[in-house]
Amino acid sequence: MGEVGIGLVGYGMMGKAHSYGYTVAPVMRALPHKPRLRAISGRDAGKVSRAADAYGFEEWTTDWRELVGRPDVDIVDICTPPGTHAEIAQAAAAAGKAVICEKPLALTYAQAAAARDAASKAGVLNAVGFNYRRLPAVSLMKRMVDEGAVGSLRLVRATWLSDEFVDPATPFDWRFDHAMGGTTIADLGSHLIDMATWMAGPIAEVAGQSETFVRRRSGRDVTVDDASAALVRFDSGARGVFEMARTAVRRPCDFTIEINGDKGTLVFDYARLNELRYGEGEDRAELYGMRRIRAEHETHPYAKSWWSVGQGVGYGSSFVNQLADLIERWPDGPWEPDFAEGAAVQAVCEAIERAAAEHRWVSVHEVAGSL
Ligand SMILES: NC(=O)c1ccc[n+]([C@@H]2O[C@H](COP(=O)([O-])OP(=O)(O)OC[C@H]3O[C@@H](n4cnc5c(N)ncnc54)[C@H](O)[C@@H]3O)[C@@H](O)[C@H]2O)c1
Repeated sequence: MGEVGIGLVGYGMMGKAHSYGYTVAPVMRALPHKPRLRAISGRDAGKVSRAADAYGFEEWTTDWRELVGRPDVDIVDICTPPGTHAEIAQAAAAAGKAVICEKPLALTYAQAAAARDAASKAGVLNAVGFNYRRLPAVSLMKRMVDEGAVGSLRLVRATWLSDEFVDPATPFDWRFDHAMGGTTIADLGSHLIDMATWMAGPIAEVAGQSETFVRRRSGRDVTVDDASAALVRFDSGARGVFEMARTAVRRPCDFTIEINGDKGTLVFDYARLNELRYGEGEDRAELYGMRRIRAEHETHPYAKSWWSVGQGVGYGSSFVNQLADLIERWPDGPWEPDFAEGAAVQAVCEAIERAAAEHRWVSVHEVAGSL
């Protein structure tokens, strides 16, 4: 078994999730290379040294540039706030490193496109952390859509409801700062847009609305939206509705995605992440309703590398699956979703932001030119 050197930038929640993914991936799946946790970086020496110990990294640094320059690092994995992503990704690509970047790829489409172009020019593998694709039930939903289980797609409905911004006393941090966190549209909506476009194809145009209900925190202006929604038209002619809100009381991280085709309906509900609901138009009339598929059968995506049927998987498993998929294809690739897909998602986010600000339908081409 060969080794692949990992350099991780950021030790927060995603730093932990990715470290967990690298550590568990070779336990659950036979991989040609073993991820070796070479170095982790963060701005606070005390915290990053403790994180290095806890997550299993051999060394730590307070300078991400030093990490990017290390010859023993093959993959730079970026787990810092969105406002830092594009600069680190471009530096890593220029140093000849493969890059994995958490979502959203950047703050703006221009930044995301610069990261995409830098990776492409350097010829390095690149991937964006849209981990929810790697939940077995979401992956099964994509497979069933591709196999025609719902027929021709008509409607895509996706929501992301959280309560993290409900309390006005929650102190200001990067998530409330547009220059570092970007928008709720991009933070939560990027996952929805990624899953929707993965299954239903590119989005042509959008309308949107946004609101910030708590406008000051810790004496500072909040510069992001608390909640937004979008109407979308796909290139295929399918229509969609997306909602992303951090002001939904008693909703922890509830996301759903539903597709209605001319022959059936598929529904994924994150609160029941090992299941997929399927309503088939030609099913026997007396069985009217939806079946609850347990997305854990050995014929289902990822099932063979997890526990026996009935045991289920969780959030952490999405990172294990994601990083195992990438390491499995090291060093030849291809990796997906890549920065080109991340930039395409960013273009939709920016189109929704523009549509909400200007109260009009905005074509994605207006933001991104011809993608
Ligand atoms: N895929 C997912 O399920 C998921 C979930 C949560 C967050 N994320 C994404 O992961 C990224 C990190 O989010 P997180 O929840 O781990 O955040 P976090 O706040 O827990 O950790 C952020 C890390 O970046 C560092 N950091 C904070 N501000 C910084 C700044 N101004 N400059 C440089 N470094 C800074 C912190 O010290 C910490 O190491 C974001 O892009 C976020 O959107 C993805």
